[in-house]
Amino acid sequence: MTASVTVRVPAKVNVQLAVGGLRPDGFHDLANVFLAVGLHDNVTATPADALRVTCSGPDAGQVPLDATNLAARAALALAARHGREADVHLHIDKDIPVAGGMAGGSADAAGALLACDALWGTGASREELLDICAELGSDVPFSLVGGAALGRGRGEILTPLAVGGTFHWVFAVADGGLSTPAVYRECDRLREVAGTGATTADVPDPEPSPALIDALRAGDAAALAAAVTNDLQAAAVSLRPSLTATLEAGTGAGALAAMVSGSGPTTAFLVTDAAEAEKVADALRASGTCRAVRVTSGPAAGATVVTPA
Ligand code: C5P
Repeated sequence: MTASVTVRVPAKVNVQLAVGGLRPDGFHDLANVFLAVGLHDNVTATPADALRVTCSGPDAGQVPLDATNLAARAALALAARHGREADVHLHIDKDIPVAGGMAGGSADAAGALLACDALWGTGASREELLDICAELGSDVPFSLVGGAALGRGRGEILTPLAVGGTFHWVFAVADGGLSTPAVYRECDRLREVAGTGATTADVPDPEPSPALIDALRAGDAAALAAAVTNDLQAAAVSLRPSLTATLEAGTGAGALAAMVSGSGPTTAFLVTDAAEAEKVADALRASGTCRAVRVTSGPAAGATVVTPA
């Protein structure tokens, strides 16, 4: 029997996040272009008497270890489908910033699912795994597949996208998190205040940007910078006005594009190359407008079993 299985799983940034109207089920239709980036969590599944979650890493104290942890819910969902106990110890070695906007919780769910499938020999098909991922959360399927993809529906219906090069990024981690539902609610509120209405009847269907998809395919950072958009940015900044100073610090240091990552409060800065990334990272650190700064690049592979190799 396998002693344990470790899965490595990436963070993501949304290079386009077009948000449609509020649906009757409480979600929003999206045109959501995900890019996986090279910050990773490792999720290790080891046989145990009962389900248990532990976490290590600089932000470990902020990770819930009870059944609300998405990794625990992933193990329970797979076990339920296959009529077995979720008798597993999940250890999350966390390097993805916890503050929010980089799908760290979703990454752990995808990692736990793949690790349990391998540990238990469940042999779930890719389709079944993606199905469980979609039940767990809108961003979880992308954490499994990685690379770059267009997410439609609430973000869970994926089409892979070609990426013709490496894109360099700097991420500024804010102090404290932002609740994703609260940011969507604020987006709706701002739309109501602006008089446009917030439901699917009021807001045009979100559409992927052809220029952005071309820029990804060409590996053209300047073209990508010109095309990035995030419809949740105004809402995140409205709830956390201090993000404006962070965005300005990155732009002032020469970032090609500065944006809120997903629902925030992490901010993302696209830069021309690795040397520029260090320069922008230094400026962000010196600005005193964020808790931590991370430099990385994308695309990165999706959830991958690393041990046993
Ligand atoms: O799917 P997930 O659990 O990540 O969603 C968390 C919350 O974010 C939802 O309950 C909803 O309030 C909001 N959401 C949304 N539209 C989406 C995705 C998430 O309104 N497409």
